[in-house]
Amino acid sequence: MCDCRKVRDVRTPGAPPVEGRDNRFAQELFSPLPERYDRLAEWLSLGQNGRWRRAMVGAVAASDPQLVLDVATGTAGVALELAARTGARVVGVDLTEAMVRTGRRHVEAAGQDGRVRLVVGRGEQLPFERDSFDALTFTYLLRYVDDPAATLRELARVTKPGGVVANLEFLVPDSAWWRAWWWAYTRTVLPVAGAATGGREWFTVGRFLGPNISAHYRRYPLAWTIDAWRAAGLDDVVVRRMSLGGGLVMWGTKRG
Ligand SMILES: C[S@@+](CC[C@H](N)C(=O)[O-])C[C@H]1O[C@@H](n2cnc3c(N)ncnc32)[C@H](O)[C@@H]1O
Repeated sequence: MCDCRKVRDVRTPGAPPVEGRDNRFAQELFSPLPERYDRLAEWLSLGQNGRWRRAMVGAVAASDPQLVLDVATGTAGVALELAARTGARVVGVDLTEAMVRTGRRHVEAAGQDGRVRLVVGRGEQLPFERDSFDALTFTYLLRYVDDPAATLRELARVTKPGGVVANLEFLVPDSAWWRAWWWAYTRTVLPVAGAATGGREWFTVGRFLGPNISAHYRRYPLAWTIDAWRAAGLDDVVVRRMSLGGGLVMWGTKRG
């Protein structure tokens, strides 16, 4: 296990469930998903999720970190890629215990349990001291939190000054042409393909994702998000639109 002294497991036997005001929805959505998550995330993103992940991890790997926090780590796909592409020890945090349990199995199967440690916790309230990590990644998180600006401040808080913070998220394409295709894919193909490949739970996810992404960017447009990163104390913010604008990889450096 990771010997990071600043890291403690937030769940002890008998402790109350980890959740905030708005966390129950995400927990209920993700709890039935972990067994098929990795395969279906690739299929339903038409193979793009892996590309986006590699781009995000590349931004962090370039800074040669020793200790990285991966928030919303899920089944540990990002955490394991970080371990493979850097010399860092990695701590993964996720709200949903079922995702973390599967993630731990993946970590063990990859022989990385000496370098990667997963804990249950909330991105909004991380159980770590200020300036603990050399770098931080977070994936598909801000659509599930009540207050994205406050969550960004929390992510920046635990990152050391000069450390890279990198994010992967869905995005709505800018071009009207590609947006129409994206809309058709997310509103029709995604629910049907979700049901066909993963049953009722993946139908729910497939039906939820498109409207959720649209609603998120109506409320928090990309320009707002970039400002929120800066307000959280992150400088040199880079924005990379991926796959015709359906994906977003962003990174910046903690001011200090
Ligand atoms: C789409 S999955 C992404 C998993 C992984 N990062 C990946 O790319 O494969 C999103 C994850 O965010 C987690 N999550 C949602 N809200 C969260 C929160 N407030 N704090 C921490 N994790 C959260 C969910 O439990 C879920 O595992």
